[in-house]
Amino acid sequence: MKQIAIDGPAGAGKSTIAKRVAEKLQFVYIDTGAMYRTLALACIINHVDIADEIRVSETAEAADLDIRYIDGVQHMFLGDEEVSGRIRTEEVSKAASDTSKYQRVRTRLVALQQELAEKYNVVMDGRDIGTVVLPGADLKIFMTASADVRAERRFKEYTGKGILCSLEEIKKDIASRDYNDSHRANSPLKKAEDAFELDTSFMDIEEVTDRILELYGKC
Ligand code: DC
Repeated sequence: MKQIAIDGPAGAGKSTIAKRVAEKLQFVYIDTGAMYRTLALACIINHVDIADEIRVSETAEAADLDIRYIDGVQHMFLGDEEVSGRIRTEEVSKAASDTSKYQRVRTRLVALQQELAEKYNVVMDGRDIGTVVLPGADLKIFMTASADVRAERRFKEYTGKGILCSLEEIKKDIASRDYNDSHRANSPLKKAEDAFELDTSFMDIEEVTDRILELYGKC
C-alpha cells in the first residue's frame, strides 16, 4: 500500500492540502487529529478530569470509537452518535492537545492508524505520522507556516463560518498548542529526518498541492 505522511503544527493547512492530494491520487485521507479529538470529547462527555492520566487513559481505551469513510470523507462516531461536528470546538481542541500527551491514548490510536494504512493507500496527517505511525512512508512532508499566518487563516475560517472570535485569542491558543504539542515526552511534533519541509506562509493551496504531487512523482 502507498503512504504519504503530512505532519506539522496546528493551522499550517495540513488537512486542506492532504484532502486535495488524496483526491487527486484517489487515496483515502486520514485525519488523525479527529481521532484524538473524539477521544477527548469522550472524556468531556464523561466528566473526566483531563489532568487525571489514569482516568483519561481508561476512558480512551473504553470509548466506542468508530471511523467510517463515506465517499472518501472521514466520519467520526462515538457509539451511534456522529460527532464529526462536535469535535470542532475550541474546548475539544484544547482537551485533545492535553489528552494526546498520554501514552495509552496514543497507543490505541497509532494501532488503528497503522491498520488503516495496511488496508488503503493513504494520505495521513497529524503530528507523529512520519516519525512514529508510518516511519516507512513513501513521502513525508513537514508543513509549517508562521504563527501569525496560521492565526490569520484560522480567524478567516471562523469568521467565514459566522463564529465570533478574536485574532489575539486565536494567536494565544495557537502558541499554547504549539508549545504543548512539541514539548510533550511522548511522540512530540517534530520533523522526521527524511521529511521535506514546506513553509506554506506565502504559498496558496494550489501551489502546495502541486508541490507535493511533484515530490510524490519523484520518489
Ligand atoms: O490536527 P488537530 O488540530 O485536529 O489535532 C488535535 C490535537 O491532537 C493536537 O493538538 C495534537 C493532537 N494530535 C496528536 O498528538 N497526534 C496526531 N497524530 C494528531 C493530532
